[in-house]
Amino acid sequence: MRFTPSFLEEIRDRLPIADIVGRRVTFDRKKSNPSKGDFWACCPFHGEKSPSFHCENAKGRYHCFGCGVSGDHFRFLTELDGLSFPEAVERLADEAGVAMPAVDPQAMEREKKKASLYDVMELAVQFFREQLQTADGAKARAYLRDRGLSPAVQNEFGLGYAPSSRSALKEFLGSKGIEKEKIEACGLVVYGPEIAVSYDRFRDRIMFPILDAKSRPIAFGGRALSADVPAKYLNSPETDLFSKSNVLYNYAKARKAVGREGSLIVCEGYMDVIAISAAGFENAVAPLGTALTEQQVELTWRVGGEPTLCFDGDGAGLRAAFRSVDTALGGLKPGRSLRFAMLPSGEDPDDLINRAGAEAFRQVLDSARPLADMLWNRETEGRIFDTPEKRAELERTLFGVVSQIGDENVKRHYQQDLRDRLSSFFGTDDGKKSGSGKFGQRTPRGGGAQKRFAVSDSLINSSLVKSGPSAPPLRETALLATVLNHPAIGIGHFDELASLEIEHDMLRKVHIALLNAFAGAGERDEHLTLEMLRQNIDAQGFGAEMNMLETQIRNNRIWQAMADAAFEDARDGWLQALLLHNRARSLKAELKAAARAFDEIGDEASFYRMTHVQDELSREEGTEAIIEGFGLSSGRPASSF
Ligand code: UTP
Ligand code: MN
Repeated sequence: MRFTPSFLEEIRDRLPIADIVGRRVTFDRKKSNPSKGDFWACCPFHGEKSPSFHCENAKGRYHCFGCGVSGDHFRFLTELDGLSFPEAVERLADEAGVAMPAVDPQAMEREKKKASLYDVMELAVQFFREQLQTADGAKARAYLRDRGLSPAVQNEFGLGYAPSSRSALKEFLGSKGIEKEKIEACGLVVYGPEIAVSYDRFRDRIMFPILDAKSRPIAFGGRALSADVPAKYLNSPETDLFSKSNVLYNYAKARKAVGREGSLIVCEGYMDVIAISAAGFENAVAPLGTALTEQQVELTWRVGGEPTLCFDGDGAGLRAAFRSVDTALGGLKPGRSLRFAMLPSGEDPDDLINRAGAEAFRQVLDSARPLADMLWNRETEGRIFDTPEKRAELERTLFGVVSQIGDENVKRHYQQDLRDRLSSFFGTDDGKKSGSGKFGQRTPRGGGAQKRFAVSDSLINSSLVKSGPSAPPLRETALLATVLNHPAIGIGHFDELASLEIEHDMLRKVHIALLNAFAGAGERDEHLTLEMLRQNIDAQGFGAEMNMLETQIRNNRIWQAMADAAFEDARDGWLQALLLHNRARSLKAELKAAARAFDEIGDEASFYRMTHVQDELSREEGTEAIIEGFGLSSGRPASSF
């Protein structure tokens, strides 16, 4: 411990906190009471128009009722100005006229050593950046260009290239007089007792410098250029500078950008951060290949009260989102929570922006859901609570989870929220709260023993029911892609193909293009080849869409839809999917009618009709999941929300 508590206390006592805060904000004259040392201002940590940031000299602390930040003199400077703690102390001690304590020589030594490591890292950053511009870097430049990263963006993120040599970086640093120990301490070489000659850790990779909160380089992420390399991404090991679980990629830059955007966007990877940023959302960060840690959530909260976490809308993404709920619970505070944005299945933000543009991503962000919803969904979705025991168990689980919330006020509100949800879910509030329009959670006004079935959200948002601009539904994609890859299906089953109803706008156009192609091929053309079909679709202007379909089925591993599937398998899968599709469409229409009837009449009969259709629909979803190639083989449960 470098500073004693009494030393810090003395500084705080001598300096009114309003003096320090007042340099960075304008106090609201109406709301403040200077004679009492009590001040209000618009919060400098998050954007706001009316003052909810409070500081009080008597307490020597500030607190924002909007975003939840709070702290003392030192915290204010470290958070807002990015000073290190010792720097903040030094500055304020000077101001307060308090003498600095004698320094601990060991701590000094450690600091000095660390400082010199930053310099080594900086040299490495420069080296990789230069390599990207050499002849050796041509392949890497082409790769980045193909992924849509302009030179300006590459520059902004300091991207570089590690050549495929085992010693290029090592030699470069050596030529700059850097000792071997420092190169090792930076994690830039692989070394150890059983390794005769240390060698460059990163070889033939695109290099992403990882900067700390003060924009100093502390580590690298390296992306392989080809798919056959064991690790797609390789990160620096833990070093004196780098502790993976405490760092977020792009944190310093994103924090600066937040003034405009409110809070951070958290996505999964380097490429996502860069793509999002290039699309105009500069407040994006990502953990470094692990699930978000508590410390990382804490970092995001320091920037703004409600960061949005982005997840792939598939089963794995949903599970990751559910895990983050637990990670966040302990640290929830008034005004400090998380939102969850689920992307179309099989897509990360980078894919989505490339396919559908920034506006589509904006829509995903706008539809992000609060943490309380995620928690509720996690525990109820797709389950049937048809006995008192099951309902009691649900209640116990939910309240057990909520007991992990550290903040008493937030906990109390969560308990209340859950009681409300439970009572409207189990129909103990006489339908008073049933106006939400989520028909699955409603109670028949006539009462009676019902099967409580958590279908509302999952159904409304499932690919079966949902329409609109977002994700091309996977089954529709698979249906079209199979025909694209196996033209013989289109020839042999032209009528079925023609009467297929496609809901998604873009896919509908592809469908029509397909029909055109087969119609144009004519009766005689029994041997319309894959090549010919593709050329035809391309000529109709749907080349990009065709590639997108291909990507989506590959990402979702729907092998029956792919070109190298045996024809019989492809045809069987297609017919099966078609059957389900047609059935789901008619059930969906039925559900709409039933829900409308229930809304209008609200009697027991219409309620039962509605639940019956809901059960049918969810059974269909379940069936879909167990048809190999359309769910199970890819490990993605069909039920998602
Ligand atoms: P993804 O596999 O989702 O990759 O990993 P990505 O970000 O979409 O990358 P591109 O688009 O294929 O280039 C997400 C994150 O997980 C970590 C990286 O931090 C990556 O950004 N990761 C992934 C690893 O650390 N190692 C790996 O082998 C793969
Ligand atoms: Mn990606």
